[in-house]
Amino acid sequence: MKNIKIFDTTLRDGEQSPGVSLTPEEKLIIARHLADLQVNVIEAGFPIASPGDFKSVKKIAENIKGVEIAALARTRKGDIDRAWDAICEAEDPRLHIFIATSPIHMKYKLKMTEDEVLKQAVEAVKYGSQYTSNIEFSAEDASRSQPEFLYRLFTEVIKAGARVINIPDTVGYSQPSEFGRLIKDIKENVSNIEKAEISVHCHNDLGLAVANSLAAIENGAIQIEVAVNGIGERAGNTALEELIMNLYTRRDYYNCDLTQKTDEIYRLSKLVSNLTGMLIQPNKAIVGANAFAHEAGIHQDGVIKERTTYEIMNAETIGLKENRLVLGKHSGRHALRDFMEKAGYSLDEEGFEDVFKRFKNLADKKKNLSVVEIESLIDNQLHKPQDIFELEYLSVTTGNQILPTATISLRKDEVVNKKAACSGDGPIDAIYQAINDITDVHDIKLISYHIEAVTEGKDAMGKVIVKVKIGGKTYIGHSARTDITHASALAYLETINKYYIYNNKDENGLEDK
Ligand code: KIV
Ligand code: ZN
Repeated sequence: MKNIKIFDTTLRDGEQSPGVSLTPEEKLIIARHLADLQVNVIEAGFPIASPGDFKSVKKIAENIKGVEIAALARTRKGDIDRAWDAICEAEDPRLHIFIATSPIHMKYKLKMTEDEVLKQAVEAVKYGSQYTSNIEFSAEDASRSQPEFLYRLFTEVIKAGARVINIPDTVGYSQPSEFGRLIKDIKENVSNIEKAEISVHCHNDLGLAVANSLAAIENGAIQIEVAVNGIGERAGNTALEELIMNLYTRRDYYNCDLTQKTDEIYRLSKLVSNLTGMLIQPNKAIVGANAFAHEAGIHQDGVIKERTTYEIMNAETIGLKENRLVLGKHSGRHALRDFMEKAGYSLDEEGFEDVFKRFKNLADKKKNLSVVEIESLIDNQLHKPQDIFELEYLSVTTGNQILPTATISLRKDEVVNKKAACSGDGPIDAIYQAINDITDVHDIKLISYHIEAVTEGKDAMGKVIVKVKIGGKTYIGHSARTDITHASALAYLETINKYYIYNNKDENGLEDK
């Protein structure tokens, strides 16, 4: 049985997705969930890229145990020193050093010859070896590189101390049989290959990242680099959930020994979607809303008679529970605590009381609450940043014959701060104008606003995800309430709270990203 290692790059390549911006606290939350799912390696970031990246990687390295923590570096000494500084406190740190190797990248981007690239790669791996023997080396744009050059380069970097050699399909250009062949050729032509593990890192520009990764496994790759929900540069990376569920569902075919906890997939996917604001298409494999839904009568009939007629996976395998009504207006703290414990949630006392209060309010209106509704109350609390401004009062008037107007008051430092009444093109615009006035944030641009019902029914909670740019930086906020104007105000306020928290210098005097 092959033992395939999962290297997750959600926090590095995934965070390079257009419009994605995670705070250090959010990255830590995602890292915790990745560790719970038992990935083998978490690539926590690219520390030289910004002080914010450095800080996040360091925080993860210091707090997340039982999994290797990797940091990315170019072949420059400054990059490697900074990456090592960020991960040196990790239980099992890994330096990930890369340089481009394709003719097109070497000529136009690096303006270097093959020999110069090889020399720099070897020197970088030797330099990194003073810190750790756990070094991964990546040949960026490997799939468009000359195979003979790759053989020579990999032989030398392995001699210099690389323990993992990574073969990226950086621009998502390869076809599965071609990529599989490249892995096989590398295995056969790099004389000291048995001293290193082969890894692949595929992009999804042609929709083939997962297929290419699986072809690589069939040809000798041991480590696969993935990102949750397939996020990443441009069309993204190999999707963690798709790769794992292929290996799990077709273990008869791949003959793999998987150590990951598949039942953590659903929660992790939802978390990453909420925090990044990258929504999941309904027909997305494994984690899309329709992935386990059957619409056609003939299918429904088949599944009722025997689930496996139309289902190749059991929804519970990815942690998707039946959305039953579980708690009601008579349920107390004990019942909510019990639900949370069974579902694997933990909150401090203050957070729990907050959720309980909102649970009671909602249960008063709806009588009975389903798993998804309760989880969305808890999720909201789990990922809430510290409040600088809190919503005290909100009133909105709107209609087709009147000017939409919002009156808002916000609390700051425990005191009701200021009130503002503004009109706008619509009720949401009016709310956002009033919040801007009170918080004194004017250089703000709404990039996206998304709303969806958490469950079915007209009394469902509405979930709002808002993305804004303030002073050139992106902030994401989300909230779920039965009143969508309330949810819209809270989601927007979260972005402004994040701006106030993360735009300030941190305790080391570093400007955040
Ligand atoms: O796509 C790529 O080539 C990368 C490398 C840095 C591994 O992300
Ligand atoms: Zn990449």
